[in-house]
Amino acid sequence: MIPRSVIDEVVRRTDIQQLIGTYVPLRRSGSNYTGLCPFHSEKTPSFTVFTGNHEGFYCFGCGVGGDCITFIKKIENLDYTDAIRFLASRVGVTVEETQDERKGPTRERIRELNIAAARLFHAYLLDEKTGKKGMEYLTSRQISPATIKHFYLGYAPEDPGTVGAKLLKQGFTEEELLAAFICGKNSRGLYDYFRGRVIYPIVDTTKNIVGFGGRVLGDALPKYLNTSDTPAFRKRSTLFAMNYAKENCSKGLILCEGYMDVITLHQAGFTNSVATLGTSITDDHARMLSKYTKTVYLSYDSDEPGQKATLKATGALEKVGIDVKIIRMSGAKDPDEFIKKFGADAFGSLLTGSVGEFDFKLDRILAAHPRDIPEELIKASDELSSLIAGYSSSVERDLYITRVCQRTGLKEASLSEDVRRKIKKNSNIRARRDMSDAVSIANFLGDKIKPEAASNVKAAAAEDTLLALLMMYDEYRAAAARGEIQLCADDFPTAFGRKVFEAVMRLESSGGFEFSLLGGEFSDEEMSRLEALRVKREGIMNGRKVLEDAASVMKEETRKIRNGTEASTGSGDALADLLEKKRRALADAKTKKS
Ligand code: CTP
Ligand code: MN
Repeated sequence: MIPRSVIDEVVRRTDIQQLIGTYVPLRRSGSNYTGLCPFHSEKTPSFTVFTGNHEGFYCFGCGVGGDCITFIKKIENLDYTDAIRFLASRVGVTVEETQDERKGPTRERIRELNIAAARLFHAYLLDEKTGKKGMEYLTSRQISPATIKHFYLGYAPEDPGTVGAKLLKQGFTEEELLAAFICGKNSRGLYDYFRGRVIYPIVDTTKNIVGFGGRVLGDALPKYLNTSDTPAFRKRSTLFAMNYAKENCSKGLILCEGYMDVITLHQAGFTNSVATLGTSITDDHARMLSKYTKTVYLSYDSDEPGQKATLKATGALEKVGIDVKIIRMSGAKDPDEFIKKFGADAFGSLLTGSVGEFDFKLDRILAAHPRDIPEELIKASDELSSLIAGYSSSVERDLYITRVCQRTGLKEASLSEDVRRKIKKNSNIRARRDMSDAVSIANFLGDKIKPEAASNVKAAAAEDTLLALLMMYDEYRAAAARGEIQLCADDFPTAFGRKVFEAVMRLESSGGFEFSLLGGEFSDEEMSRLEALRVKREGIMNGRKVLEDAASVMKEETRKIRNGTEASTGSGDALADLLEKKRRALADAKTKKS
C-alpha cells in the first residue's frame, strides 16, 4: 500500500491540465479547459478539465470523470497503485513500499520532533562556525538578529548526516524522522532532507511547529524545499506567519506569495502579513482568512504569474465574503524587494492606493488592448461589457459603466446596451443549466450505481448534495466528525451513498480526507459519478445552509422510506415534477431558437 502522504504529494505536484494536455489537445474555456473526449467519440468538445481548488476532469457527453489518478488508470489502462507510480515518476516523487500508514507516527510525536529539529536548526544558524554561510545570507538580505529570533530562523548544515543523527540520539526513531520529512532514505541509509539551506519554521495558529521551508543560499534549484503534508501539517490550510498576524488583523491582512516577503513586511512593521506555502490559494485558506478579517490586501508578485494568481485569489476570497483590495506595485518584483528599494512608508502608500477587483480588471483589460487601434477598442469594450454584466447590483453596474466611459471615451448608451444584452444571454445559459439538472435527475431511472434512487428522487438528490459538499469542504467534514452536523450512514438512502459517506469519514479521521484516496476503493464508474457530483457543486454559495437543508430533507425522506410510508407516491410526484420541468424547458429552448 502506498502511504497517503505520497499520494497527496503526487496529486499536489501533478498539474492536471498539463497532464491531460499531453493526451488531449485542450482549449481554455473560462477558468477550465475543454477538448474532445478521449473515452468516447465526439465531434464537439464536451470533455472538461477543471483547474483550481477541485481539480478533475469530466465529460458531459459520456459521464466519465475523476481526478488525475482516475484519468491515468483509464487512459494508460493501469490499476490504482500503478497509476500513482506512473504519476509519481512523472513528477519526481519516489514511491517506497511501506506498511500501512495508519500505524505510523502520531501528530503529537511529529510536533515534538519538529520542535527538536527547529531548536537544532536555530542553534546551527547562531553557531559562528556552522551557521556562518546562513547568517551571511540572511544579513545580505537585511534580516536583523531580532527578526531571526522572532521567526526562529535556522540553518541546515550541508553534511547530510547531521540533523537526523542528532535527533536519533535524542530518542526519535527513523520512522518518525521519515514521516516528518526531516530525513529521507536511500540505499546508503538515512540522510537529512534539508541541506545547506536557511530554514523557516512554519507555525500554525495554535503555535505548533508543523513544518519547514528551506531556501538555498545561492541560485541552485529548487529554490525552496518544503515539508510535505504530514499528520501534523496540511499545506492547503496553513498560512505562513498567521500565528503572529492573527493578533494584528483588525485593519485587514496582507497576503503575499513568499516567505521572504512576509518576513521583510513584519520586520518593517506590517505584522498583519501572511503567505500561502508554495501553493496557490485554496478555499480552506480563504475560509481561514475570513475567520480573522473582513479585508485582505493582495500583494502578489508584480510579474504576469503573480497577476494571474491575484485574479484567482480574488475569486476565492470574494466567495467567502472578504473585501479584496489589490496592491499595485511597480519598480519591484515583490514586496520584499519593494520595501528594500523604497522603504516601509512607500509600502504604506501602496496599501492606501490599493484598488478593488473591478478597477484591477479594468486596468488589465485596457493594458491588453491599445485604445488607439479601433479593433482593439472593440475587443476591450466587449470584455468590459461582459465583466460589468457579471455584477448583480444595477447601481454598481451603472457606476462602472460611467467609469469605463470616462476612461475610454466609449458612449454610455452603447456600453449599457451591450451590458443589457449580455445579462440576457447569461440568464438563458442559466435556464439551460437548470434543464440539464432536471435531465440528470430524471436519469436516476435505471441508475446502475444508485439503483434505489429512482424510488425516491428527493432523498437521492439530497444525498448527492451532501456527499458533494462533504467531499469538497474540509470544514463540513470536520463539523460532521465532531457531531456538529449530525449524520450517520443510516441517514443515507442508497447503498452507494452509505459507502461513500463511511469512506469519507473514515479517511477524515485517519490522516485527513483527499478525493484521490477514494480511488483506492471505488471503481472508475463510481469515481466518475463522484466527480460529477463535485462538478455540479463547484462554486456553491452558502454551502453550510445548503448542506444543512439537504441533511434534513435526506433524513426526513429516508425515514419515510424506512417506515414504508409515501415511498412510492412521494417520489413519483417529485419525478413527475422534474419531467414536467424538463419538458417545459425544452419547449422554451425551442421557442427561443425559432
Ligand atoms: N516556492 C516553493 N518552491 C519553489 C519556489 C517557490 O515552495 N521551488 C514558494 C515559496 O513559498 C516561496 C514562494 O513560492 O516563498 C514564492 O516564490 P518566489 O517568488 O520564487 O520566491 P521569494 O519568496 O521571492 O523568495 P526569494 O525572495 O528568497 O527569492
Ligand atoms: Mn523575493
